[in-house]
Amino acid sequence: MKKTLFVFASAALLFSACNNSSNTTEATPAAEAPAAEAPAAEAPAAPLSDAVVTITGDDNMKFDLTEIKVKEGQNVKLTLKHAGKAPVVAMGHNFVLLDEGVDLEAFAQAAVAAKDNDYIPKDKEGEVIAHTKTIGGGESTEIEFTAPGKGTYDFLCSFPGHYGMMKGKFIVE
Ligand code: CU
Repeated sequence: MKKTLFVFASAALLFSACNNSSNTTEATPAAEAPAAEAPAAEAPAAPLSDAVVTITGDDNMKFDLTEIKVKEGQNVKLTLKHAGKAPVVAMGHNFVLLDEGVDLEAFAQAAVAAKDNDYIPKDKEGEVIAHTKTIGGGESTEIEFTAPGKGTYDFLCSFPGHYGMMKGKFIVE
């Protein structure tokens, strides 16, 4: 009887397009078991999904987030929104992610003189992991970057005078 079944199973493969009934069902578990295990074993190595982050600034010189958490190596899609109405010259906002150990205050003070470079001091560009452009009320901008190594990083708005209120921690786990 078993031999007959195997013959049936082989025959069923040939006719599988038009025969999905009992014969193929019997052969399926043995034939597909190894294939089913392979993807499961690969799962931990699968690429991380994107970290989608939206951070909003307003006319009160505030970000709605003071902490952002992502995973090491994750592709980060970050949108900065300005929910206010004030023009960029009066209440501009950007998002600047500083490298680990960078002195936030020293960076922000140097940024005051870097209006023509989105408030990123040219001699300190190496201290920045990622940054958006500077936007005004009602605007929105998006950047994409790879999360750095595990650790805690500072982010800020480097528009003059904003860093005291507009800053937070970017935590990579
Ligand atoms: Cu700002």
